[in-house]
Amino acid sequence: MKDFAGRTAFVTGGANGVGLGLARALLAEGCNVAIADIRPPHIETALETLDNPRAMGVVVDVSSRADVARAAEAVEARFGVVTLLFNNAGVNLFQSIEESSYDDWDWIMGVNLHGPINGVMTFVPRMIRAGQGGYVVNTASMAGLLAAGVCGIYNTTKFAVRGLSGSLRASLAPHGIGVSVLCPGLVKSYIYASDEIRPEALKAGAKPVNSEFVQRLAQVHEFGMEPEVIAARVLEAMREDRFHIFPHPEFREELAEVFGEILADFRDYPPDPGHAQRVDFEKTRRESYRKQRRGLKET
Ligand SMILES: NC(=O)c1ccc[n+]([C@@H]2O[C@H](COP(=O)([O-])OP(=O)(O)OC[C@H]3O[C@@H](n4cnc5c(N)ncnc54)[C@H](O)[C@@H]3O)[C@@H](O)[C@H]2O)c1
Repeated sequence: MKDFAGRTAFVTGGANGVGLGLARALLAEGCNVAIADIRPPHIETALETLDNPRAMGVVVDVSSRADVARAAEAVEARFGVVTLLFNNAGVNLFQSIEESSYDDWDWIMGVNLHGPINGVMTFVPRMIRAGQGGYVVNTASMAGLLAAGVCGIYNTTKFAVRGLSGSLRASLAPHGIGVSVLCPGLVKSYIYASDEIRPEALKAGAKPVNSEFVQRLAQVHEFGMEPEVIAARVLEAMREDRFHIFPHPEFREELAEVFGEILADFRDYPPDPGHAQRVDFEKTRRESYRKQRRGLKET
């Protein structure tokens, strides 16, 4: 992506944290920006802070297909076709899977996974039809690569967002639409207050909010990376058409350790029937996947 100016961007979760940082950076590049968020007062505050006629707010629950479709109509009516899509809204629950309820699953999956799915299903066909190329950035997390017991549902959604992004990158390359996955570590954001916006219908299965824990989380997020720093790294990656966006370099060693552990789980089994043919088949597939990861067209 080289030509940001004049394009229209749709940023979910745009009223706070990473999304607000992205909105600011995109406005500075001369884009029109839709701040799509579930918290109307936060949208208002964000618009006041940005103070830019090329920014508009749109209230949306990303887990609702109808809401996202309505938001797309509203934004395109004002700014024209959206060719920069940031599926960034996210919520977190710091609890293990066995402590969680189906309501917990429905809420976190709804926002963190169905949100990006709804964004892609709504906007990508429009982008393709418009024929102006474009870019999709999906916000996953380092929790999309590193799993532990503390937030199992969140891990599940963020691993899935990586899968969605990898496949989409391959299939959209022929349309001149780039795709990246953003995997931040700790961000200076408001995510610790996610419980505030849990839908009424999914509250029955919620554990009582532990306000002392939330307070501690707020303190930890204070030394998170500034959204502006992340946004600059996102735009740089888009210019380079780089798939993974890792704004936090401190994770490199840990990833190497984990990938090492994955490889260490392989065993050298003796060849079983069909092995040689499979190896042959995988050779062709591997070459094709390699090309697709680089965003190259299949020949
Ligand atoms: N905060 C971190 O340390 C961290 C680390 C890695 C990844 N992330 C990811 O970054 C993304 C942005 O989060 P953030 O840290 O800036 O948090 P944040 O809470 O500051 O901002 C998220 C925004 O999403 C909005 N939102 C929540 N549910 C929504 C819904 N259903 N529909 C529309 N908007 C909704 C919120 O109102 C909020 O404005 C998320 O996907 C999050 O998982 C955050």
